[in-house]
Amino acid sequence: MPFLELQDIKTHFTLRKGMLAGKTTHTVKAVDGVNLTIDHGKILGLVGESGCGKSTLSRTIMQLIPATSGAVILEDENLSDLHHRDVRAKRLDFQMIFQDPYASLNPRMTVFSTLAEAIKQRHPKLKGEALDHKIAELMERVGLDPRFIQKYPHEFSGGQRQRIAIGRALAPEPKLIIADEPVSALDVSIQSQILNLLLDLRKDLGLTMIFISHDLSVVRYIADHIAVMHAGKIVEYGDADEVFNNPQHDYTRKLLEAIPHIDKVV
Ligand SMILES: Nc1ncnc2c1ncn2[C@@H]1O[C@H](COP(=O)(O)OP(=O)(O)O)[C@@H](O)[C@H]1O
Ligand SMILES: [Mg+2]
Repeated sequence: MPFLELQDIKTHFTLRKGMLAGKTTHTVKAVDGVNLTIDHGKILGLVGESGCGKSTLSRTIMQLIPATSGAVILEDENLSDLHHRDVRAKRLDFQMIFQDPYASLNPRMTVFSTLAEAIKQRHPKLKGEALDHKIAELMERVGLDPRFIQKYPHEFSGGQRQRIAIGRALAPEPKLIIADEPVSALDVSIQSQILNLLLDLRKDLGLTMIFISHDLSVVRYIADHIAVMHAGKIVEYGDADEVFNNPQHDYTRKLLEAIPHIDKVV
């Protein structure tokens, strides 16, 4: 049984076309019939150029936007059938990491408050020493010195901020992490540190992960399997090395040719 199964997911947006056009509408097929499975403890790399539908697919999986059709099955349960109250509880099981940690972290909250709030989603009654201990443990796990616990996001570097965001994602003890371009805004030297942290977390915590990037070399470094997305559809899927070394689809070859720093990341 796969951990997560996407069955023919379509997410279409209907847009009104201009004021004078009146009722004419235009449909953007952001995700247009995606079938994928992910096994427990594996990292699926989702790659494709900007605008191909990667973020829309991740928000559809998270039930943040409704699918137009299709089903998201998590451990045998169809998330699309759940009542919205149950979805909220379920959402603790999957957490997201975004490209820009500065935008996704609250600038007025210290590391302590950010992590405390996230831990309390799962353990609402945790406080005092037990909470302090959990926060320190979480900081160490993501490679942050617990002495920085009372600092604010602007006092950290970009890589450290992404570590805070990763800590916050881990705090509710999720089973699935969706990382949407988590290293795209970081220097190449910092990128590999964050990728290695995610690999350690997978190994130590048995997390399942969807790792999204427009950069095939980054995805190849971290993923077990790669799905190549183009115009809302998966055009190629396979073992990561296989897709990288022996791409079958023209579009995958184009993505490979677009990599300027193929040797730098690894
Ligand atoms: N809320 C929305 N309303 C209308 N169109 C959208 C919306 N969100 C995304 N899109 C469109 O869907 C397509 C896919 O976008 P997105 O999922 O953000 O791609 P990616 O993450 O791969 O860059 C784009 O054409 C984008 O303009
Ligand atoms: Mg995106």
